[in-house]
Amino acid sequence: MYKLILVAGARPNFMKIAPLMKAASGLDVITPILVHTGQHYDENMSRVFFDDLAIPRPGINLGVGSGSHAVQTARIMMGFEKVLLEEEPDLVVVVGDVNSTIACSLTAQKMGVRVAHVEAGLRSRNWAMPEEINRVLTDRLSDLLFTTSRDAGENLLREGIDPDRIHFVGNVMIDTLLGHVRQAARSDIHERLGIERGSYGVLTLHRPSNVDSPEQLGTILDIMDEVRPQIPMVYPVHARTRKMLHDFGLTGRITDRDGLIPVDPLGYLDFLSLMKHARLVMTDSGGIQEETTVLGVPCLTLREETERPVTVTQGTNEVVGIRRDEILGHVDTILRGHWKTGRIPELWDGKAAHRIIRIILEELGRD
Ligand code: UD1
Repeated sequence: MYKLILVAGARPNFMKIAPLMKAASGLDVITPILVHTGQHYDENMSRVFFDDLAIPRPGINLGVGSGSHAVQTARIMMGFEKVLLEEEPDLVVVVGDVNSTIACSLTAQKMGVRVAHVEAGLRSRNWAMPEEINRVLTDRLSDLLFTTSRDAGENLLREGIDPDRIHFVGNVMIDTLLGHVRQAARSDIHERLGIERGSYGVLTLHRPSNVDSPEQLGTILDIMDEVRPQIPMVYPVHARTRKMLHDFGLTGRITDRDGLIPVDPLGYLDFLSLMKHARLVMTDSGGIQEETTVLGVPCLTLREETERPVTVTQGTNEVVGIRRDEILGHVDTILRGHWKTGRIPELWDGKAAHRIIRIILEELGRD
């Protein structure tokens, strides 16, 4: 019997951990323990995903909450050290690139516990991104590195990672998407928002580089003032952005504006349904670039680079920064129906979690 600890902390982790928990729970040789660090704790940033995705309640919740990066990372490490001492797992699985990911991989590796990183090898090459630092360091600390695309494997090889540790397995986030599209079709989000399917765009923003400065955030809102007369934009407002809009006195810029529909963060099924029927999506999220590629929905990424280049070379995504003319030009192309249709990247087939658990078992069985 092997004991696996799976770590989730922030919103994008939950849809990645869900299929892994399911795949691990189905085997009688594995005892999976889900640890929630508590990095995200609002009902609509955390609990709703456990309900929507039928993830079992976490066995352990570290309840760390918000704080500066160092406070948050340190609190997670202190809590996770105790968990490892008590549970003595055979392996720790971390996903993605959030502070919980680096905190738990660092703690585990220093205590001699093996680490598997799911979604390894993605690189934006923008060292100002907290997630890029988390990615590079987590990969360096991991014994098993599971990648979503071939370019990610190449990045790891270039950094000197032993090829035997790298496994190209596909995308667990897409396992969750494919497993829930039918359920999402029953969402009544369009009726609740009073919008017609296929008649709107979706906007999401939360990167510190976009929302932590009044100039950047103001520029994006200026551009939205030009987009919304062409197509109404539904805007689920992330907790971080809500706080920043308030602190900068910009909340008024998103309320009472024709064609801009701000809403609280949505659950998984509602958001999936909203994305599926959107004419276009504008985002600075990593996961949404991948999800729109699989759904075949045009995506404009409001950043200077992406760590997920297959969504551009194979999918429906373009990286546009916050350059007004480029964005308005692309919106026009999309609304005239001339956008690329893209194709689904290799191994994004809904079976990544099973591949991962099989490889983990092989690895543990070697002892
Ligand atoms: C984190 C991840 C980011 C991920 C994002 C998805 C890191 C470095 N960043 O960013 O990669 O894309 O989650 O959402 O780990 N807050 C609440 N309620 C919550 C959580 C946060 O109000 O449940 C507010 C607090 O003001 C907090 C701020 O959001 O200070 C930022 O939260 P934090 O966890 O530090 O990072 P995110 O911006 O959410």
